[in-house]
Amino acid sequence: MAYRVGILTSGGDCQALNATMRGLAKTLYNNIPDLEIIGFRYGYRGLMYKDYIKMTPRDFSGIVSQGGTILGTSRCPFKKMRVIEDGFDKVAAMKKTYKELKLDALCVLGGNGSLKSANMLSEEGLNVIGLPKTIDNDIYGTDYTFGFQSAIDVAVRNLDEIHTTAESHTRVFVVEIMGHRVGHITLSAGLAAGEEIILLPEIPYDINVVAKRVRKRQKIGKNFTVIACAEGAISKEDAKLSKKDYKAKVAARNGASVVVEIANQLSEMLPDIEVRTAVIGHAQRGGAPVAYDRMYATRFGIEGAKLIMERNFGRLVVTQAGKITSIPLAETAGKLKYVDPNDDVIKDAKLMGVTFGDE
Ligand code: F6P
Repeated sequence: MAYRVGILTSGGDCQALNATMRGLAKTLYNNIPDLEIIGFRYGYRGLMYKDYIKMTPRDFSGIVSQGGTILGTSRCPFKKMRVIEDGFDKVAAMKKTYKELKLDALCVLGGNGSLKSANMLSEEGLNVIGLPKTIDNDIYGTDYTFGFQSAIDVAVRNLDEIHTTAESHTRVFVVEIMGHRVGHITLSAGLAAGEEIILLPEIPYDINVVAKRVRKRQKIGKNFTVIACAEGAISKEDAKLSKKDYKAKVAARNGASVVVEIANQLSEMLPDIEVRTAVIGHAQRGGAPVAYDRMYATRFGIEGAKLIMERNFGRLVVTQAGKITSIPLAETAGKLKYVDPNDDVIKDAKLMGVTFGDE
């Protein structure tokens, strides 16, 4: 009987999803003679509603450099997985599809939420493995997630471009970079683009410190400033709010991000300076993966295939201290990898004069 492996890509997309699936599939085809791969369309939705494609080796050819995901993706929030909606039991439906298609294993390419669901399915008795996908690089237990370097490169390119126009017009730009809960992309991109002000969710800022730094730059002839600001950057006052009050405050912004609030405050505090905003947005998740991501994606895929061949399930492929390995899905589920405000990278950046708006 054929050995059947299901694959799905879940949550926000990123570069190198295809390269990862290619690494996995090629290794499996190369080692399991009677292999069949089932690709579920649009993430867990495909598994719930039995929406799938029977893949062939040809499907995984020529996709190492292709952005997006050949399977499509969707967001199926973990907190809603066990909620019965319109009489539809999502967990039961996924288990039913898995059984009916006689899958031997299911491979989930996903970020935090998707991996929590993968862990739940594993605890429900399915043979699941996870591959660490996200531009945010915030999956607990792995040093790297594929997509991260590509997103940084897009952000840096954009920051470099904004620099030239900011300088020509002697403007301040507050630039939003993706990462609503963690600041890894903003930290790396901000440093790589040479920004002096970097605002992260993990280090609440004081707007007075930010304004003072802009003024200080002006005094020494730097008549422009580009501020690298994470989507989830938060002021010291807002950090004191309860979760509920902060949520209400964000909702009251009516879709406008924190960069608009910061720009408005700076405009008031520095009336002689023109302050603008820019949002890099989803370009950070799009386009071709950079070589670094393709290399990691390929190696993660191969490791995933090894886990499937060893029947070593319930695990997430990770990289730790330069080695590709795996950890139990249960170990990562529900945890985030934040920027550590006491990390050397933060201390070193401060040493050369970068401010994170805290002091
Ligand atoms: O998790 C990746 C990410 O790109 C975050 O950085 C960002 O906050 C979020 O997804 C945006 O998600 P979406 O575009 O699906 O709303």
